[in-house]
Amino acid sequence: MPRKPLIAGNWKMHGLQADGRALAQEIAAGARDFANGPELLICPPATLLPALAAVLDRSTGAVALGGQDCHAAAGGAHTGDISAAMLADLGCSHVLVGHSERRQAHGETDPDVAAKAEAAWAAGLVAIICIGESAEERTKGLTMASLSTRLDLSVPRDATAQNTVIAYEPIWAIGSGLAATPADAADAHDHIRTWMKARHDAEMAEDLRILYGGSMKPDNAPALLAEADIDGGLIGGASLVAADFLAIARAAH
Ligand code: PGA
Repeated sequence: MPRKPLIAGNWKMHGLQADGRALAQEIAAGARDFANGPELLICPPATLLPALAAVLDRSTGAVALGGQDCHAAAGGAHTGDISAAMLADLGCSHVLVGHSERRQAHGETDPDVAAKAEAAWAAGLVAIICIGESAEERTKGLTMASLSTRLDLSVPRDATAQNTVIAYEPIWAIGSGLAATPADAADAHDHIRTWMKARHDAEMAEDLRILYGGSMKPDNAPALLAEADIDGGLIGGASLVAADFLAIARAAH
């Protein structure tokens, strides 16, 4: 079965109620053109999840809703955190785990990320597990070694192509305007798929969706998405402009 592209918007810490609702409405309206196209997903700040659940429900349901993070525990004394079940309860189908901004600013380790993925699955969510090398690792020629370590420790062994999406996000490309070249991104995606094939099996690796993230924009998306192993994008900055996000989705069509 060919892999269905997934174009996911990571709004990060952007959006108040009125502008968040308006942006989602604009994206949902544009998404009606993609009936048989890529899956679209918006991961807004948690404060916008209820409003967006309502907006996206009223549209064709063509745009799914996701969280940007979840706690590894099902509940308990975790001030300020959100459980995967709480996200599911609000209508989320996906959650990002292990984004490099969480790894860096919140000290999240690979085992933390793996535990979050397990929590996501327990709540019925698809875990989008983010991995990517630093600029220093890249300079030292350690990109593939770094990816292998992240995969080994951040992706639990019971991952399937249904419960998991991998987002390859080179840290140096995030928010920098410097996307990986299509050839470099393709090499990394090939490495990830080959690694998953060795640990899991050929069918799982073949069905697994691997997204590219890091300064994906309407102008570079067509070449990146044309690579056979790039199954979509995790979009930060460009997901905050409906026309740009939709243009990227169109490139995945
Ligand atoms: P960017 O962010 O598209 O703004 O580089 C991508 C991400 O962090 O997911």
